[in-house]
Amino acid sequence: MDRMEPGGRTLLEVRDLRIGIKGRLAVDGISFSAGEGEILGIVGESGCGKSLTALSIPGLLPEAAGLAGGSIRYRGRELTGLRERELRKIRGAEISMIFQEPRFSLNPLLRIGKQITEALELHGEKDKALMRGKALDLARSLGLPEPEKLLSLYPHQLSGGMCQRVMIAIAMICGPRLLIADEPTTALDVSTQAQILELLKRINRETGTAILFISHDLSVIQAICRRVLVMYAGKLVERGPAADVFARPAHEYTRGLLGAIPGRSSRGRPLANIPGRVPPIEGERPPGCPFAPRCAKAAPRCREAFPPEIPLGPGHSAACLAALGRAGAGDA
Ligand SMILES: Nc1ncnc2c1ncn2[C@@H]1O[C@H](COP(=O)(O)OP(=O)(O)OP(=O)(O)O)[C@@H](O)[C@H]1O
Ligand SMILES: [Mg+2]
Repeated sequence: MDRMEPGGRTLLEVRDLRIGIKGRLAVDGISFSAGEGEILGIVGESGCGKSLTALSIPGLLPEAAGLAGGSIRYRGRELTGLRERELRKIRGAEISMIFQEPRFSLNPLLRIGKQITEALELHGEKDKALMRGKALDLARSLGLPEPEKLLSLYPHQLSGGMCQRVMIAIAMICGPRLLIADEPTTALDVSTQAQILELLKRINRETGTAILFISHDLSVIQAICRRVLVMYAGKLVERGPAADVFARPAHEYTRGLLGAIPGRSSRGRPLANIPGRVPPIEGERPPGCPFAPRCAKAAPRCREAFPPEIPLGPGHSAACLAALGRAGAGDA
């Protein structure tokens, strides 16, 4: 199981999370935890269930999806089953989110300043001057150029990178303890991407806000996360300190991902060195390891039952029978 480092306090604890869509499980029994102030990554190809996992935490699953089981504890409090009213108090103030397309998340008709202070208003703040002051302070501390002018602009007057910085400001204005960042740099060019990653790292360092960082791109995960979870077809297949997972990937899927290091342009396309695709949610999901049909090392046993997590090192494990040999545990 997933353990925090000694001394690290648990912020988020997800147990046996299952999310159903169209009568199938798009997220199938995943468990993980995140510590206070940690940057935890989730990586996997398109359709693996990363976004559904993320959205379920603040209770924002799309209509088509539903929680089919499991527990989501935030600072010891169970979030599943909370009323919308309770969740609204948590969203923004405690847990906030940023997404891939900042432009779609911003309101085109409202000035940037208004959009940043709106989050404060939603949580009960009424003092306009105070809110404006906070927005300016935050814009400055996030290194946004010409904050006074910026607050009076509309989204269409900003670049994609600047829109994402504004989204980060909106997400941070109430001082959340957890920021969920779902592919926040995927739509940006490489140099803007690097700036946003640096900004997120700085926020994490300076405010202690934990970040759940989701990406299909291992090189991005590598640049920002200390620990990483690898998802495939709704399952967690490998986890561990990012340095270990990248140096010694154990699951055949992780090895394939690393071999591919997909760039932006390969989003949604099959991995160059692993034939096949993530099975669609509508298709059959036979028992056993969902990756077996694409795995060069798959043994008949792999198709019988989903393998247990095999420990490989401190905090590092993989649900892969081929990893047994790598763990030096022999072929049990
Ligand atoms: N609103 C929805 N309606 C129907 N199916 C959905 C919906 N949202 C997600 N799915 C399906 O659930 C599965 C998991 O989707 P999810 O968005 O969590 O994947 P992801 O790992 O975030 O992929 P991506 O990298 O493309 O963002 C996919 O098969 C997807 O098609
Ligand atoms: Mg997604």
